[in-house]
Amino acid sequence: MSEIALSVNNLVVEFPTDSGPLRAVDRVSFELERGTIMGLIGESGCGKSTVAFALLNSVPTPGQIVSGQVDYPGVGDLLKMSDEAQRLFRWQHVAVVFQASQNTLNPLRRIDEQIRELATAHRMRDPKALLERADSLCRRLRLDSRRVLHAYPHQLSGGMKQRVGIMLALLLQPDILVFDEPTTALDGLSQESVLQIIREIHDEEGLTGIFITHDLGIVSEVADTVAVMYAGRMVERASSHTIFSGPKHPYSQALMNALPRLSGDPHLARGLRGSPPKVIGDQFKCLFRDRCEYRMEVCDQSEPQLIQVAGEDAQVACFLHGKEVERVSV
Ligand SMILES: Nc1ncnc2c1ncn2[C@@H]1O[C@H](COP(=O)(O)OP(=O)(O)OP(=O)(O)O)[C@@H](O)[C@H]1O
Ligand SMILES: [Mg+2]
Repeated sequence: MSEIALSVNNLVVEFPTDSGPLRAVDRVSFELERGTIMGLIGESGCGKSTVAFALLNSVPTPGQIVSGQVDYPGVGDLLKMSDEAQRLFRWQHVAVVFQASQNTLNPLRRIDEQIRELATAHRMRDPKALLERADSLCRRLRLDSRRVLHAYPHQLSGGMKQRVGIMLALLLQPDILVFDEPTTALDGLSQESVLQIIREIHDEEGLTGIFITHDLGIVSEVADTVAVMYAGRMVERASSHTIFSGPKHPYSQALMNALPRLSGDPHLARGLRGSPPKVIGDQFKCLFRDRCEYRMEVCDQSEPQLIQVAGEDAQVACFLHGKEVERVSV
């Protein structure tokens, strides 16, 4: 039996704008099985990072989680925990390597000082054990620990800083790791070595995680399952094998068609005209309809729900794939 490590239910996150609340994440639900990596993909602005922030209940101001649950089985709904419980929970239970995490290191503190601060924040009396783990993780991440741990962030290259971000995320042995574009800011060689390390950790320790990226090539290499977001909604979810061998949603198909070009260019999806809409308030329509070559009348009249595709390990929110007979939580 598979064990669920994270269950997100009907998550809605909004940012206030002059025209009304922008729905950055719109009723997103999914489950993450222990020991698996879910790839989260979609064009720029579709809400991927906002989901990552919500998993820590740390959506940047003025954003707000309006409704939903972020349930970690055995621990409970993060959104209902006290502030202190949430603080202890972050990094220890779930850690996020943020997009451009190299910029999130404190520029005024040496890396070992930042590790000591983490130990104090997590009520560890003796930071020694944590520094020892940092030392061994550095070796694993092919970082010279003597040099890196005593360095200030500005003394490290971009690739090194990104690996330090991963080291810090792994430090408290979190159950779940979220990587938000961990390789985007890196050159090809550093990208490959960071991916190699993530693959190794996945193989050896059975990593449970979410890997956010624009790069479908990377997703096909590291992810067991794939979730596709469009304009804040989840429009398809399937095993990696299923989605790469036959994407169901016209949006996923367009993304896959763009595969050779998508790598390295976050804004380009060949074969896709226009850009995703900014969603203000409730929209009971298919949000992809203006860009879809299969647009039907029903796409303007109601909203396709994520439904199970008969006989396949895939869920899709598109009227081409049946009526809303069975609402599923994936
Ligand atoms: N701090 C913020 N203030 C206002 N709006 C925001 C803020 N952060 C995100 N948004 C809006 O929320 C939506 C989702 O943004 P998000 O950063 O989650 O997208 P993304 O999929 O991670 O994009 P990218 O691939 O570029 O990283 C976008 O429309 C964005 O403009
Ligand atoms: Mg992002």
